[in-house]
Amino acid sequence: MTTSATLSIRRFDASDTDAVVALWQQAFPEYRDATRPQRNPRLSIANKLATQPELFFVAVLGERIVGTVMGGYDGHRGWLYSLAVDESLRRHGIGTRLVEYVEQALTELGCPKLNLQVLSAKAEVRAFYEALGYRTDAVISLGKRLGELADPVPAD
Ligand SMILES: CC(C)(COP(=O)(O)OP(=O)(O)OC[C@H]1O[C@@H](n2cnc3c(N)ncnc32)[C@H](O)[C@@H]1OP(=O)(O)O)[C@@H](O)C(=O)NCCC(=O)NCCS
Repeated sequence: MTTSATLSIRRFDASDTDAVVALWQQAFPEYRDATRPQRNPRLSIANKLATQPELFFVAVLGERIVGTVMGGYDGHRGWLYSLAVDESLRRHGIGTRLVEYVEQALTELGCPKLNLQVLSAKAEVRAFYEALGYRTDAVISLGKRLGELADPVPAD
């Protein structure tokens, strides 16, 4: 690491919002894409604070937020989202620490399997998860937007 400060992982606090939005805009190009209003980091944070906020974690180095991860558990499967590490601090094990932390939190809730999705273009992220023991499930991933930003359903 570039500093001697110790890395710690703790629950997200609302006062972390600006730092987390800045980190996500750096780590996830879609958060910088004005044509994709559905990718609104502040709305994602507000939604998570309303639903299982205890599964939203930040990695902190000194005073600085350097990573994030979100988990969710619906009683059947766990899900992992929004894993991001500051670009300048990658390949120092912070992503691994964050994944292990959320895995532990979900295990303590009795979650038997953790799922996650990786954009198919991100081969390096797949390599990261494979190094942590994740394997590709023989499924295709389907999705549908709900509410105000719902996709139109094609007419027959
Ligand atoms: C994916 C991400 C969180 C990894 O964080 P990180 O702190 O760099 O990961 P680690 O240092 O714990 O990496 C552990 C191992 O994963 C593998 N790995 C990590 N990044 C890799 C890369 N870019 N290419 C190939 N393998 C990689 C390596 O085996 C690495 O071990 P090594 O450094 O000893 O070789 C980080 O690259 C990131 O924030 N990416 C942008 C956001 C993103 O796409 N998130 C995933 C959403 S699903």
